[in-house]
Amino acid sequence: MCGIVGYVGARECTEVLLDSLSKLEYRGYDSAGIAVFENGEIRTQKSKGKISDLIEKMDKEGRISGHCGIGHTRWATHGEPSDINSHPHGNANITIVHNGIIENYKKIKEFLEKKGYVFESQTDTETVAKLLDCFYEGNPLSTIQRVLDEIEGSYALGIMFKDYPNRIYAVRKDSPLIVASGENEAFIASDVPAVLKYTKNFYLLEQDEIAVLDNGRVEFYDDHGAPIRKEMHIADFDMEAAEKGGYAHFMLKEIHEQPTAVRTTVTPRISDGMPCLEECGMTYDRLKSYNNIFVVACGTAMHAGLVGKYVIEKIARIPVTVDVASEFRYRNPILCSEDLVILVSQSGETADTLEALRLAKRNGADTLSIVNVKGSSIARESDMVLYTHAGPEISVASTKAYMVQLSVFYLIAFALAYADGKISTEECKRLTSELQTVPEVIDKILEKPGDCQYVASQLVNSENLLYIGRGLDYALSMEGSLKLKEISYIHSESYAAGELKHGTISLVTSGMPVIAVATQRDLFDKTISNVKEVKARGAKVIMVTHENSDVDSDAADIVIGLPTIDDLLMPMTAVVPLQLIAYYTSVLRGNDVDKPRNLAKSVTVE
Ligand code: G6P
Repeated sequence: MCGIVGYVGARECTEVLLDSLSKLEYRGYDSAGIAVFENGEIRTQKSKGKISDLIEKMDKEGRISGHCGIGHTRWATHGEPSDINSHPHGNANITIVHNGIIENYKKIKEFLEKKGYVFESQTDTETVAKLLDCFYEGNPLSTIQRVLDEIEGSYALGIMFKDYPNRIYAVRKDSPLIVASGENEAFIASDVPAVLKYTKNFYLLEQDEIAVLDNGRVEFYDDHGAPIRKEMHIADFDMEAAEKGGYAHFMLKEIHEQPTAVRTTVTPRISDGMPCLEECGMTYDRLKSYNNIFVVACGTAMHAGLVGKYVIEKIARIPVTVDVASEFRYRNPILCSEDLVILVSQSGETADTLEALRLAKRNGADTLSIVNVKGSSIARESDMVLYTHAGPEISVASTKAYMVQLSVFYLIAFALAYADGKISTEECKRLTSELQTVPEVIDKILEKPGDCQYVASQLVNSENLLYIGRGLDYALSMEGSLKLKEISYIHSESYAAGELKHGTISLVTSGMPVIAVATQRDLFDKTISNVKEVKARGAKVIMVTHENSDVDSDAADIVIGLPTIDDLLMPMTAVVPLQLIAYYTSVLRGNDVDKPRNLAKSVTVE
């Protein structure tokens, strides 16, 4: 949700800013802009559209040049995407970039208008820039602190004062921001991959801490203005992990990284053939102490939770409630100290999930997060964290993060079922070992993408389609449907196969594609009956099932057969063709696969 960067050092700052911004474009691409100290003056260039549009504009106008500057890539919240609403905002004296939402901006705007300030954009950010200007009396630190006392909401800010050339001030609250340092140079960025090309050393800024980057040196101050020392972190992945590496798109690369991601996530959590989650304090005794489990997340992460619910309830027999974080926050959930709330998030920064976590803690529940980005807010604030080891996920449409979230849910389910005496040691070992075979099976599926490419060619001109399934297949098809609509812009819905006849079947017309997922053998015949219902109404059925399933030739038009593993684990393999179908359909429709319209990868506003 907007990406911000900043650079101070010997390099040509415009190049660094544009390069770093390009690594953050997954956070939003409605507009881009930079501000640079050029001969002691703050100069700004910005443009509606992607970074490539900004570069085109800069090449026409002549690029600004210097050694200190800030940059921004926007996901519009307040005000349409336009040149005027693009960041940086401010004037010749104070210029800022902002990620987040200033909730009380209207009140501040009224206050400033009474003082004679005239606003040109529709953004909330402009109020912060003007408030800084209004309070400024020569001391940037105390001015920033005064402004922080007034503004409400979430923010990561990069600020330049004309009186202090070659210096950047940075502060954050509820929006991520890192400060990185190289040799005689320093950076700010919304995420580590933005600066990996230059350095692996970074600091995590805490709530309302202020960083000052001055001629390549970095100093930190607490929220009272007292200097503080901070621990430096070293990124444990390198540039390659954040590059396309020969693939046409990040999404395709990330789909192919799934086998490795599962191995890296699962292997360290197996001891003597049994799942072991003690690294975060989750012992078998603690696991079995819970009466209820809640899974709270957004988007794809929530879909991983849906699969987790089916698996946990099936083998551990503990009730699991899955909630969308934005609903959970405001529905006054009934929680107590015997409950476990599991927060799932790739970024670890999703605003609604973070607030859900805080709510769960206030209500006394135990909190466990499943997070991909190390040191992110959700990981830091939860009682326990199990990191998924997917490496950086750049494509806005999530694939490998979902896959590793599933694998952690399986480990939790096996451990829980064993701890509660619902499965024997032998059964627990058998399931755990079966989980370890999943990466090989995914590799096999990835070797033959032909069927998925063919399905994509059949979907490319569709306007609507349905995904259907029962049980785990239903939970999985929710993700398949989301993937397709996110990147192909074809409207699709996922429906419980047995529920279709209660209304939605009225949408089925001749030639409408229906993707039926039927990997659960105990429900296979029931799903086939539902498939026949849509077939009888002219649907074109694409079935995803075990390779040896007995599918009547009159039931499905296309069958995608998957290698057989334990039915419980089939979502991990069956999701792969669904990801590929979405990917190839998007490519065929000529869409920007990695940056689908209107979306952002990290949603740090509610
Ligand atoms: C955004 C992304 C989704 C993602 C969701 C939750 O909407 O576009 O792909 O699933 O946020 O993100 P998180 O980082 O919390 O997993």
